[in-house]
Amino acid sequence: IAPPAKGAKRVLLASPRGYCAGVDRAVVAVEKALDHYGPPVYVRKQIVHNLHVVDTLAERGAIFVEETDEVPEGARVVFSAHGVSPEVHRSAEARGLQTIDATCPLVTKVHKEAVRYARNDYDILLVGHDGHEEVEGTAGEAPENIQLVQGPDDVDAVTVRDPDKVVWLSQTTLSVDETMETVRRLREKFPNLEDPPSDDICYATQNRQVAVKKIAGESDLVLVVGSANSSNSVRLVEVALEHGATAAHRVDFAREIDEEWFNGIATIGVTSGASVPDVLVQQVLKVLADYGYGDVEPVITAEEDLMFSLPRELRRDLKAAG
Ligand code: F3S
Repeated sequence: IAPPAKGAKRVLLASPRGYCAGVDRAVVAVEKALDHYGPPVYVRKQIVHNLHVVDTLAERGAIFVEETDEVPEGARVVFSAHGVSPEVHRSAEARGLQTIDATCPLVTKVHKEAVRYARNDYDILLVGHDGHEEVEGTAGEAPENIQLVQGPDDVDAVTVRDPDKVVWLSQTTLSVDETMETVRRLREKFPNLEDPPSDDICYATQNRQVAVKKIAGESDLVLVVGSANSSNSVRLVEVALEHGATAAHRVDFAREIDEEWFNGIATIGVTSGASVPDVLVQQVLKVLADYGYGDVEPVITAEEDLMFSLPRELRRDLKAAG
């Protein structure tokens, strides 16, 4: 990143940002389901944690519900990218629902790890945020074996049956640095704590944090586009502040930008969470340009080309229809 001309206003635009492969797949799954089966298509919980995405799909005929018992018997329901517990699958089956499971494959991977360690009777310490849908889904795979550890402050209270049979797993969208601190504290307490077989914090979360760290140190202000319930978006604000941004704000929409944030500011960093369509970032850039921040410098820390195929049930039906 080149130093700016003295006092010059500029924007550093982080890349990667925005949609990850799991979000893209989940959103396209609902769109294709609406096209193929016609509305209404029910969706359990927000398909991804973004207000704009949810509103747009609702306009096209998606009906968002909290639980499967709100879906009429026999109707079609999509499970969100965050995953569901086996109990939700059971209740959907009992109601004769036709399900399309849009759980991100990288969340499914963590579910499978939980099942495997529980089968071997491990105590599983799941690092994650209480109440987040992904955590509810993963914990539901092995409720007897899993306990939630929300952060370093929770470690003192953790007890296990056998300190030689303990593994930690995590939510996919956490702060990498904070999670490593939690694990360091856990390992002090349980030296034989096992690591997950591969990173549970997903590539998209990691890449977006690396990118925001790179721009944060050079930015007086960082704007993160993302919704309040988007874990990875909220983490980007925290990471930006920890890595040198003087101020950082999360906005769902460009209209939330407050011109007072710009007082005395030369460099503004911009990024977005993994559930955010880029159109929302472009709208933010337009507002920034209106305030004189029209000089946009992309800062690229990684290239991403991962794509996931659509959920199996949907692929099957689309194929059968030719
Ligand atoms: Fe999947 Fe990570 Fe996105 S777990 S939904 S690729 S944020």
